[in-house]
This record gives sequence, C-alpha cells and structure tokens, in this order.
Amino acid sequence: MNIDASRYQHWQVEVDATGLAWATLDKAGESANSLSSTVMSELARILDGFDGKPPRGLIFRSGKPAGFIAGADIQEFTQLDTPEKGIELVRRGWQLFNRLAGLNYPTLALVRGHCLGGGLELALACRYLLAVDEPTTRMGLPEVMLGIVPGWGGMLRLPERIGAQAALDMMLTGKSIDARRAKRLGLADDCVPPRVMDNAAAMLVLADQPRRRPPLLQRLLNGPLRGLAARAARKQVAKRARSEHYPAPYAIIDIWQEHRGDALAAPELIDRIVRSPTARNLVRVFFMQERLKGFGKGSASPARHLHVIGAGVMGGDIAAWCALRGLTVTLQDQGIERIAPALQRAYAAYRRRIKDPRDLRRVMDRLIPDPDGHGASRADVVIEAIFEDLEAKRALLRKLDALIRPDALLASNTSSLRIEDLHGALNNPARLIGIHFFNPVARMPLVEVVAAEGADPEMLQRAMAFVKQIDRLPLPVKSAPGFLVNAVLGPYMLEAMRAVDEGLSPETVDQAMIAFGMPMGPIELVDMVGLDVAMAAGKSLAGNDAEPPKCLRERFAAGHLGKKTGKGFYDYRKGKPAKAAAAAVPAGLADRLLQPLLDRTQQLLRDGIVADADLADAGVIFGTGFAPFTGGPLNYLKSRHD
Ligand code: NAI
Repeated sequence: MNIDASRYQHWQVEVDATGLAWATLDKAGESANSLSSTVMSELARILDGFDGKPPRGLIFRSGKPAGFIAGADIQEFTQLDTPEKGIELVRRGWQLFNRLAGLNYPTLALVRGHCLGGGLELALACRYLLAVDEPTTRMGLPEVMLGIVPGWGGMLRLPERIGAQAALDMMLTGKSIDARRAKRLGLADDCVPPRVMDNAAAMLVLADQPRRRPPLLQRLLNGPLRGLAARAARKQVAKRARSEHYPAPYAIIDIWQEHRGDALAAPELIDRIVRSPTARNLVRVFFMQERLKGFGKGSASPARHLHVIGAGVMGGDIAAWCALRGLTVTLQDQGIERIAPALQRAYAAYRRRIKDPRDLRRVMDRLIPDPDGHGASRADVVIEAIFEDLEAKRALLRKLDALIRPDALLASNTSSLRIEDLHGALNNPARLIGIHFFNPVARMPLVEVVAAEGADPEMLQRAMAFVKQIDRLPLPVKSAPGFLVNAVLGPYMLEAMRAVDEGLSPETVDQAMIAFGMPMGPIELVDMVGLDVAMAAGKSLAGNDAEPPKCLRERFAAGHLGKKTGKGFYDYRKGKPAKAAAAAVPAGLADRLLQPLLDRTQQLLRDGIVADADLADAGVIFGTGFAPFTGGPLNYLKSRHD
C-alpha cells in the first residue's frame, strides 16, 4: 500500500496492492465534508498526479462517519457579491467534474450517508455509483432550496442517469432519495450493506460493466421531447413558486432544456440569480436553521421514553410524531375511547410514510395507549397537552409532580397560559418548561421552547435537545402571551379580518398575501386555527382593542368555527376551502396587512421575547411559513428601507 497523506490537507490518497486508488475525503477541522475551493483544488491535483500513471480504478469515499459529502461549501456562497464570482464558482466545478467524467480509467463513488448537492454532482461524474444501504444514506440536489442551481454537472448528468422526469422532480423540489430508491431509479449501480461495501466497490469499479440506461421514453424526454418535459415541469413549479420570488427552479428548467445543463452557456441566468436577493436570503435562512439545530446540541443522553397526557389534536399528534422518530411513547387521556382516535390518526399517517409492513408494526408498537398513566413514573420526558384550562392543568401538574422521576423533564404545550401561573402547583417550579408545538406537528418544523421566570437552565437545555432529537427546530423564547409565533400572527389575522369588515372578500385578502409569497392567506389561516380560538386569542392578544371584528363575531355566533366544522370564512369540502375568484387586489393591501405583523415582531424583539433579530426571523419563517425568499419579517423591513 502506497500512502501519500502528507500532500493534501483534506484528502488521503492510497494505491493498494491491486493497483486500485482510494481517495478518502476527510475535511480538516469539520465534522462533515463539503466541497470548498481548497477541497476542489486538491481534487484537481489528485487527478493531475494520476495523469501520467493512471491507476486501475479510482474510488472516492468519505472518512467521516456523518456521510459522504454534504454539498458545496455554503459559507463560500455568502461571498458571491458579483455575477462574475458566481460564474467563476460554477466554472470551477463544471470543468473539474467534466474532467473527472472524461477520465480513461474507471471511477466510482462509494456513497454512505448524505451525498448532496456538489457531493452528488461529484458522484455523478464518476463512472459508477455504489450506495450503502443504510437509513442515513440520502442522495439529492437541494440547491433549489438555497435559491441556486446544480451547476457542477447535476443538470446534465442526473437526467442522463435517471431520465428527465425523475431528475427534474429531484432538482426542482430538492428532495433526496435513499439507497434503494437510488438503485431502482438507476442513480446507483448497486446498493449493498456496509460490511461488504469496500469489496463491492473494488469489484464494481473493475467490472467494466456498462451502465444501465434509462427507459426509451425517458431518453426521449431528455432528448427530442425535452420541450414536453420542460413544459410539464414549468407548470408544476408555477403552482408552488413565482418566478419573481424564486428564479432558480425556472432557471434549472431553462438551462436543462436550452443548454443541456451547462449553466455557463446561460450567464444571464446566473447573473439574475446572483443579483436577486432570494439566494442570499435563502442561504441566510439555511444558516439560521443550522443555528436553531445547534441549540439542541449537547451532551445530554437522548430521551427514550416520552409520556404524553391529553390525546387530542396536539397530544395525539405529538405522540405519533415522537414514536415515528424512534421514541417509546405512552399516551394518556381520560379513557381509552379518547385515545383510540389518536391511534387511528397515527396509523393512517404512518401508512402513508412507511411502506414496509414490519417497520410499520414496529412504529405502531412504540405508540402505547396508557389510559391509567402508568408511563408517567418511568418516562424521561413528560408533556401535558390537555385542555387549555388553568385549573385542570394545575391539578394535573400537581399529581405529576409527585409521580414522575426527579430527573424527568416536565413540559407543557400550552399556547396561551402563562407558564408562571402553572408554577404554584409544583414543588420544584423551575423544572417546568414550555414546549410549544404547532399544528400540524408533522408539518410544522418549529417548536418554541419557553423559559419561564427562573427556569432551570439544565432543563431548558434538555428541552431543546429533546426537540432537536425529534427533528424539529427549537426556538428559545421567553414566557409572554402568544410567545413569538402566535403573538405576531394575532394582529396580522386581525388586520385581515378588519379588511373583510371593510368589504373586501376573504378571497381577495388571501390572494394579496399569497401573491406576496405566503403559503396560505390569513383568512384561511383563521379558518384553520378555528374561529373559537381566534375569538379567545383576540381577547388576550389584541390588547386594548377589545371588540373582535364583525365578520368573526357573526360567524362565531352562527357556530361556524372554520375548517373543523366545515364552515367558517369558507365552506369546506373534503378539507379544502371552496374559494370564489378573487377580485383585483387593491394596491398596497399586502403591505397594510403585513404592517401589524412587522410591528409586533419588532416589539417582541425589543421586549427580549426572542434574543435577536435572526432568531425572530427564523421563528416567524419556520413557525408560520412567512415567505422565506424575503429572509423573514425583520429582514424584509430592512430591505424595504434600503
Ligand atoms: P383537545 O381538546 O383536542 O385535546 C385535549 C385532550 O385532553 C382531550 O382529549 C381531553 O380528554 C384530554 N384531557 C383533558 N383533561 C385531562 C386530564 N386531566 N387527564 C388526561 N387527559 C385530559 O386540545 P388540543 O387542541 O390538543 O390542545 C391541547 C393543548 O395544546 C392546549 O394547552 C392548547 O393550548 C395547546 N396547543 C394547541 C394547539 C392547536 O392548534 N390546537 C397548538 C399548540 C398548542
């Protein structure tokens, strides 16, 4: 074995006794591999070294337990302030990976763990891709989520490998796939268990086996019928994103259709992407997301057993979600008949996600109905999610206090009660933390972690770690009515209902905000939250403005509570609102509706409910879906003033 480790900072290159070369990427000083400019220039030097003396085969693999390669170095994107720099960055990867693809000796990427963005583009430039069959192995091109395009050959090679439709779907949604699916689609040549991966890689790279080609129709759609596939893809994208807000997905389709994936042939599109604030804002959102995840990092050992009390809308879904994430969950309510609907809901949700019946059974087995509350005394984490009633919660907490393990984390999912008001029931009030989920739990990434006055810092930390453990984003907030998210939504929904009182149709009001980039209009949001909840929240959140809007009062009085009763501002059929065509949106309506939300966000920041502006923006984006391309409410305010 000829090891030559000294020459590279990030790579280790060995040629084994059979003449096979192994290039192991182990980026110095980082826990995950990314393709920074040094990593890329070292790769070029590795190829230089083999030019005169080609190995029998070259295998790329990772030296990190975390995965293969997470993507390009996103930190470097933040320095792209001119289109020239953008083009230079694209050129570097495009040319290097073309060189890799053109080598006359066989190459292989041994993919274990995440293989994303530039990492997958590197793997695609290799002759073979061998995927290791493990749950953490994921392959994808998520560039679009950062507002950029897979310019290092992804737009060329992924459609060649797996056909236009599947490739466009992956590139336009940013979704990743696992090892088995990669094999089915033809992205991976094979998929093997970890114990045989090195041998399998060595055999495959020398096998001289031709690559499988996509089916004829897919080859046509990536050839003469490109126009068809492009048109269909544009239609799909238009349903989700407007080109003025999100230029990247449209650019991906154009570059694939017109230039066979060569972004350098379309400098005007790169120019547009670099100049639009979208990519900058989305990259910032990415870093904010990393920061939220970081709050949950720490040495605390992961929770294994969760006990949830209250199997209603929230408790049932929290329990189901946590069982899916691998915890054992006992679910308590006043009787088995109250728990059964939650289990049914969980089963239906799992069936949509989990294909293997044995896996499905295993998850279902982890979700245990517990009408007598036996789980409480054993659990690592106990969350109460019963009715929003102060006395009921206090009585329950008093019982729990005596019952649960002294080291257990005790949490309340209350949305509107003060955590401090629940303290009186406890011997050790400092242990009670607010863990505030959003509805629906499985779709809302944010969870507010509420620190009441005098909260135990260690318990707070454990609450954040628990939230991170179940793949949600913890946002630390101080205890205040509505915390951050509901507090900013309240005045926004109120203003929307005032506009309806003034005679605008709900459709027009909603349309104004959808055009702005919100995932859902504020009036439909009221229907979803429930008009009863809006009435109650209005009283506590709107402050001195005591009189709720007329449109709300009337519907509430008539018993129309929104989606859950099938009627609110809209009529619901199969859970979907029946909307009439919106009238033309009056100029300035979106800004008017937003203003109270922006004002309230600033106010909460000043009051220290969130620690800084980035956290406020992150919370509002991940908690409400606030148009991500704006970079969040405070960033939007700033850009409006610039
Ligand atoms: P829900 O009314 O759907 O469910 C409450 C459940 O608690 C019922 O099944 C009830 O039988 C049970 N329960 C009541 N007292 C109990 C007791 N002493 N022991 C055992 N079980 C008992 O209520 P929902 O909507 O799930 O709300 C629960 C909590 O979550 C509330 O504190 C609410 O503020 C909060 N929350 C609600 C959100 C929502 O969108 N619905 C969002 C975030 C938080």
